[in-house]
Amino acid sequence: MEKKQISLTYELYNNSGELNQQDLNLLNQARQVTAQAYAPYSQFHVGAAALLANGEIITGTNQENAAYPVTICAERVLLGIAAMLHPNTPIHTLAVSFSSEHRDAASPISPCGMCRQALLEYEGRMQQPIRIILSGQSGQVYIIESAQQLLPLAFTSSELKA
Ligand code: THU
Repeated sequence: MEKKQISLTYELYNNSGELNQQDLNLLNQARQVTAQAYAPYSQFHVGAAALLANGEIITGTNQENAAYPVTICAERVLLGIAAMLHPNTPIHTLAVSFSSEHRDAASPISPCGMCRQALLEYEGRMQQPIRIILSGQSGQVYIIESAQQLLPLAFTSSELKA
């Protein structure tokens, strides 16, 4: 028997003032678009903004439903928009932020497991890693080089081939 270890590497910034202009702009768009979330049940408003390889920026927010499991996270709403409006255009960087009526938003949130799987699929589909910026409305910022980092030992399309 052998024990294996997988580690996650991410950059930690004390606040968004330490980011370069491009990343700061993207994060600010994610922060602002939280206002457009449809989150009447959780009052947890998530915003995602993606810088595409062609320089365009698209955004998405969480879309909740009275039948709770029907809810779609901001990240997967954004991936659907990206795939339909900009097919074959990789996502260079994705920023995710949130605001909540029940807590402060001074620390980052991470994508849920389902969104990690969806982000990984998109990376494989576009054959380009997605840089991920995570932050609340203020406070620390995490930057992760690829969705792959967020989902070790993932199930991918390669498992389906002989
Ligand atoms: N949510 C997202 O949109 N993205 C995440 O990364 C985590 C959770 C949404 C789903 C639901 O509408 C609300 O946040 C509370 O879970």
